[in-house]
Amino acid sequence: MAAFGTVFMPEMALATFENNQWSASRMVPADSLQLHPAAHVFHYSSTCFEGLKAFRHQDGGVYIYRMDANIKRLIQSSQILQLPSIDEKQIADMIVDVVTKFKSEVPEPPGSMYIRPTHMGTEPSIGKAAGASSTSMLFVLLSPVGDYFESGNKPLRVLIDEQGMRCAPHMGMVKSGGNYASALGPIAEARISDKADQVLFCPGGDVQETGAANFILIDGNEIITKALDKSFLHGITRDSLLTIAKDMGMTVRERSISVDELMERAAKPGAEAALSGTAAVLTGVGTLIRDGKEYSVGSGEVGPVTEKLRKALNDIQWGLAEDKHGWLTKV
Ligand SMILES: Cc1ncc(COP(=O)(O)O)c(C=O)c1O
Repeated sequence: MAAFGTVFMPEMALATFENNQWSASRMVPADSLQLHPAAHVFHYSSTCFEGLKAFRHQDGGVYIYRMDANIKRLIQSSQILQLPSIDEKQIADMIVDVVTKFKSEVPEPPGSMYIRPTHMGTEPSIGKAAGASSTSMLFVLLSPVGDYFESGNKPLRVLIDEQGMRCAPHMGMVKSGGNYASALGPIAEARISDKADQVLFCPGGDVQETGAANFILIDGNEIITKALDKSFLHGITRDSLLTIAKDMGMTVRERSISVDELMERAAKPGAEAALSGTAAVLTGVGTLIRDGKEYSVGSGEVGPVTEKLRKALNDIQWGLAEDKHGWLTKV
């Protein structure tokens, strides 16, 4: 299978905001866009996006997972970035329409159709470094995908970074391109210096998240993960897994974890740690690297609770378990 996110459906849904109103959405070719070189997004990074998936069930039906939650987050990101307000119904229709159009291309599990709604400031003005873009473009691009991590389900090596941060503290909950650009340097360095797969950003010792996933610690029947604040992305997979864990009778603790506590708990034989996200689903962390030293998390393998939670989530997404929280939208 081609690398994650490199194959696209030939058309996408697109709408533009001009003269204080949204255009009707339309299908356009997905291999080109026309934008002025002075477009606000190119210079001042006024852009945000979402990542969600549509799954094929055994009955042949196609279902979009937690579309409403992703739309809410896109609306929130747009607000924080001072982009024009998105109409909830219009973006929902755009997502459903484009997925419907390419329904027959949705891969069988474990593959899926990755859906990438994107909203960007397009005003042609390089004088607006400190001003919002008055025009914008919204599109929904589709990419059929398999596994996100090249290593498949192998336990990850994660470098703990206590000095740097992924992005500015007030921007963590915004799914914006600039945040990813800001994390690229530290991640590239960690790959070279420690052969790490990911960096776990823990500014001042506060365990936050990695470059593209949330972090959860599993200790027996307990799941511990940072409580929601502005500093990190409020993952919809995180929310799903915490809900599933509660349904299974596990104790969910949303609170701060220090790196010292993480290291202490990770050293216990049954400890597990994992990264959660739409792309990562739930991927086990086998090794933590702190100040050049390596520490196994529990057995160093992907743990049984991680496997159980991942399967429970996949079963809902794939239509093998009841969707009792109403997370699926049929197209
Ligand atoms: C920085 C970051 N944190 C967390 C997540 C997880 O969010 P979600 O579960 O909504 O995909 C993502 C996206 O996958 C991300 O890019």
